[in-house]
Formats: sequence, structure tokens, C-alpha cells
Amino acid sequence: MADILILVGTESGNAQMVADLLEDELGDLGHDMEVRNEGDAAAVGFADRDVVLICCATHGDGELPDNIQPLADSLEEEKPDLGHIRYGVIALGDQTYHTTFCNGGKTMDRIFAERGARRIGERLEIDACTQPLPDEDALEWAKEWVTLL
Ligand SMILES: Cc1cc2nc3c(=O)[nH]c(=O)nc-3n(C[C@H](O)[C@H](O)[C@H](O)COP(=O)(O)O)c2cc1C
Repeated sequence: MADILILVGTESGNAQMVADLLEDELGDLGHDMEVRNEGDAAAVGFADRDVVLICCATHGDGELPDNIQPLADSLEEEKPDLGHIRYGVIALGDQTYHTTFCNGGKTMDRIFAERGARRIGERLEIDACTQPLPDEDALEWAKEWVTLL
């Protein structure tokens, strides 16, 4: 069983809804879950973490939600070594923004990879246009993802 920190980037609540469901469902499977939707890298305390699940929407023109921007900025500025971190990415977006589809999740994926963290599995990209139930899609993906840890 894993100790999993879910980092949420959300503007209107979809990514938070996904994270809250995964907290409950993966918790029921025996994993130790924590959900965080604010704070920079120091507040998160990556030194004490092992597994991170990024659950991040996209807003503006391919931008990160405001609540996760301080975390992204601190990782890019302070450049901590995240070589001990294994992570997964659930990216929420909308295909009608075709040039910036799921850029928020893609940005967090890039930042973690640049800091030496190792992604487990493929990134899940959820399209709000064609996938009206993001939490159900995410749960199916996450149950498979935890078997890869
Ligand atoms: C103003 C606005 C801008 C958006 N821009 C993008 C975008 O550039 N790329 C994308 O893939 N999705 C974009 N989206 C879609 C959201 O990422 C998607 O609806 C997501 O499910 C919202 O999650 P949240 O409720 O957690 O914020 C945008 C949505 C809004 C309302």
C-alpha cells in the first residue's frame, strides 16, 4: 500500500471533485491518502513524500489554475531534487481548446520530470466535451495506476 499525496489544480471544482473521489476510493483500497490544493513546494514538503498524483485542470489560454501556480513557480525557481518521487498525472481539459488541450496537466508533468521525478504510467487526459463524468474515468485509470506503483 502506498502513501499518496494528490496535488489539485482547479478553478471551478472538477479536479477537486476527482481528487476527493480518489481520496475516498483509494483510501478504501488501503492506501494512505492526502489531498492538497494550496501552498508552494516548501509547504508540500516533498522530502517526506514518495508518491504524488497530480490532478490538474487547464484555464485561460492553456494556463495553470491559480491555486497551483505558487507550487509550479516554487518548483521552477528553487529547483528541488525530486529524484525520489514517483508521480502520475490526471489532466483535465477541453478539446475545443485544441492548441492548449490539457496544458495545465502537461505543464505540471514537465516540471516534475525536469526535477528528476519519475512518472508512473501514461498521463490521463480527460476531455470535458466528450467525457462528462471525469471522476468515473479518473477512478478507473487510478485503480490501474496504483497497481504500477
Ligand atoms: C475560461 C476557461 C478556459 C479554459 N481553457 C482551457 C484550455 O486552454 N485548455 C483546455 O484543455 N481546457 C481549458 N478549459 C477547460 C477546463 O480545463 C475544463 O473544463 C476542466 O474540467 C475544468 O476543471 P476545474 O473545474 O477543476 O477547473 C477552460 C475552461 C474555462 C472555463
